[in-house]
Amino acid sequence: MKKKLIKFKVNGDEYEIAVYPWKTLNEVLRKDLNLTGTKLGCGTGDCGACTVLLNVRSTKSFKGSPQPIFGQLINS
Ligand code: FES
Repeated sequence: MKKKLIKFKVNGDEYEIAVYPWKTLNEVLRKDLNLTGTKLGCGTGDCGACTVLLNVRSTKSFKGSPQPIFGQLINS
């Protein structure tokens, strides 16, 4: 599967990286950007450890493709 280019801002810094679409936002933040302040806990949506702010809305980063974050603002 081909990587997709995504561009977004995290904590005020702009990033443009190519990621596999099957990665989660949590994996992109922690592994690709080395922003380990974002945690991973239960992986089921119960604990809230992976929560980030996506355009000021609380979002669980452990699930879903990172592609919808294209052009979004994230605070971890
Ligand atoms: S890891 Fe528990 S809600 Fe995200």
